[in-house]
Formats: sequence, C-alpha cells, structure tokens
Amino acid sequence: MAAAEQRSPAAGPAAGPEKAPSGPGPGPDPGPVRDLFLEPDHGERGSGLNNEYAVLHELVKAARARLKPGTWDYLIGGSETETTFRRNRLALDEIAFRPRVLRDVSRVDPSGRLLGVPLRIPVVLAPIGSLQDLDPGGGATTARAAIDYGVVSMLSSACEPGLEEVARAAADGPKIFQLYVRGDAGWVDDHARRAVECGYDAFALTVDLDYYGRRERDLAKRFKTTARRRAAGPEFQMRFSWDDVKRLKDRFDIPIILKGIATAEDTEIACEHGVEVIYVSNHGGRQLDHGRGAIEVLPEVVRAAAGRAEVMVDGGILRGTDVVKAMILGADAVGIGRLTGFAVAAAGRSGVMRMLELLEHEICICLGLLGVNGYRDLDETWLHRGARAVAEPHATSAFPLLAEGY
Ligand SMILES: Cc1cc2nc3c(=O)[nH]c(=O)nc-3n(C[C@H](O)[C@H](O)[C@H](O)COP(=O)(O)O)c2cc1C
Repeated sequence: MAAAEQRSPAAGPAAGPEKAPSGPGPGPDPGPVRDLFLEPDHGERGSGLNNEYAVLHELVKAARARLKPGTWDYLIGGSETETTFRRNRLALDEIAFRPRVLRDVSRVDPSGRLLGVPLRIPVVLAPIGSLQDLDPGGGATTARAAIDYGVVSMLSSACEPGLEEVARAAADGPKIFQLYVRGDAGWVDDHARRAVECGYDAFALTVDLDYYGRRERDLAKRFKTTARRRAAGPEFQMRFSWDDVKRLKDRFDIPIILKGIATAEDTEIACEHGVEVIYVSNHGGRQLDHGRGAIEVLPEVVRAAAGRAEVMVDGGILRGTDVVKAMILGADAVGIGRLTGFAVAAAGRSGVMRMLELLEHEICICLGLLGVNGYRDLDETWLHRGARAVAEPHATSAFPLLAEGY
C-alpha cells in the first residue's frame, strides 16, 4: 500500500488479480458517499436486524444466552493456558493509530478482493467445525449469509452439511472448502476433485492441527462436539507434508490456501510450491500454546511472500479497527472465527449478515477518521506499535460494555 499525501480519487475496489467472480459479489453499491454518522440503510438485501442488534456485543450476548454452557466454552476456548489465544487480542490492542486530519474523507471504500473475488469488506468467514451445533443449517447457513452480504465463507470439512450440499446452497456465489486430512493421498485427492467439481473457488488445507490442542474448557467439562465424537484418522494429518502440497498443485486446477502458517520460513516454502494464499493463523489460539499473536506474525509473512502469494490473517479480529490494522500490515483479507460463531448462534443467516454490516460501518468510520478513502492510502506510518493495552485480553474483552451489564 502506498502512502498517500495526496487524496486518492473516488475510491474503487483495491486492484488485484483479475478473475471473474463466481457469484454476485458485493451487494448493490450504496454509493461512494457514506454517511459516517448514521449507519447506512442496507435496503432489501440487508439483514433486517438493525434494531435488534445495534452494536456487535448484542450478538455476543444473544449467543451466550442461546448456547448451552458446553457449546459456549467450545466456541470461546483456547488451548492449555490460553496464552496464544489471549496474545491474539493483546497484539491487536497494543497497536494504536496515528490518524491524519483535514483531508477529504467524504468518499470511503471499505471493499477488498481475494483471489480475484470482490468482497464488500475484506473479510472471509473462517472455517468452524461443528457449526451445526450453533445453528441447524450449519455450514450452509454461513455460506448463504456470506453470499447474501457480499463476502466469502470457508466450509470446514469438520462441519455439516458436507461440501456438495453446501455448494448447492451457495451455487450462486463464491465459496472455499477447507480440509482436515483424515485419509490417505487418494482420500485427499478425492476431496480436491469434488471441491473443483462443486465450483469451490479455492481449496484450503489447515496445517496447524497435526495434534489436536488440549482445550481445557472442553476437557474439564467432558464436552465433545458432534464432529469430535466422529473424528477418525488423525495420523494422516500428522504425516501430511510439502510433497502432498506439490501433488495437489500438480494435479488440480484450483487455488490452494495453506491455513496455519506462522513463520517467514514456511511462507518461503509455500511460495516455492506455488501456493496462492498464505493464511497466517494460530487457529484462534486453540492449537499450539505460547505462540505469538497472529497480527505480530503478519508483517514477516507479508515480507517473505513478497507479492508471490496473497496473505490472509485471523486471530482475535472482532472489530472494524482490527480489520483496518491487518490491512495496513499487508493482509489481503482477514478471517473471522468466533465472531461468526457468535453471530450465527445469535440469529442464524441474518445474524451473520448483521455482524458483517456492523463491521462494515466500523471499518468505514475507522478509515474516515484515519483521514483516508480506502486501505490503499494507508501504510505503517498510520500505526504506533507498543501502545499499552487498556484491558486484560479475554474472549469478550473487545466488548467492554458487556462487563458493565449492557
Ligand atoms: C469453534 C471453532 C471451530 C473451529 N473449527 C475450525 C475448523 O474446522 N477448521 C479450521 O481450519 N479452523 C477452525 N477453527 C479456527 C478458525 O478457522 C480461525 O482460525 C480462528 O477461529 C480465528 O480466530 P478468532 O476466533 O479469534 O477469529 C475453529 C475455531 C473455532 C472458534
């Protein structure tokens, strides 16, 4: 992203590799001039939940009220001491903004693009296993919400319904399939083939789950999700290697995403293998404990990728300001995990759409108050690292009003 002393022209979507989007993409353009004081009217294609959920924390509150305690803990929990989990949030909180003023911010563009697919905001609904425990429609609900709003969702292979049924529910828009390796090469190739045949836009391999992290909230409650009860074949994931990535690249004409990259070293190898998207993630702090906060890892990965692959990040992203920080640090898009879970548990498809509308409004206000028209105008001079976090990081610390009883 280039620094912009000059005002950018009417901001359009950020430039990226061109590819015809497979679906309608962003909804109707609400016009370049956004009212940064009032939330825009989302019209007929909106969630219709503006009154029910005026702020993000109301979705979190509704989710907590609806979910059984075991499912709530499964959703929010991290592994072991939850240090990685907390560092995700802490690392975001320790970045402050250096806003610029007296610039024309009457036009603000919050949109983005990943793998040529236009995104109304640069957000991907991260894969969540056992979504069916949060909403009866499972992965079909989030896939539909993503398309109806104008982003893309990633379906987890540990989620119901399966890839064919979700593809039918999401036939008119972009979608990504994410695989946990639970079988031999033939089994993996079969999933890649089916993903291609079903029209998925990318095939994601989650690579940070060779062993299942000790989620102590679940263990202490003796809680198992539906997917966990059926889990089989973890040894195949343990043996999965760069050779398998090469085989998939050689055999299948579908972009590959590696989810769970945490170093420049592995970014380099991924780029040498022609991987299209490097997804920086520590699984929301649910796998290796005592890792770095994901946003801290992002700059070294962006540097190592050096434009050879697109870069995503997730971990603790719960507010529009978090999205903007990640974009400044070089992300092409961010993944939203738990917040998607809260939203779908609160109000299904409409809840997820409402969550995205609220994130969009927060992003627009953030960009306007930073003095820019879009992400392309920003660079690291807009950031101050090492700011003191004002809250102890935890699952809902991004929503401090909850603790005050709102
Ligand atoms: C309840 C839950 C289930 C998850 N299931 C999967 C999964 O099936 N596949 C996967 O790659 N990641 C899974 N993740 C990790 C998310 O895709 C994502 O990396 C993480 O949640 C991002 O952090 P955040 O929740 O702080 O946004 C899961 C996360 C949660 C919270």
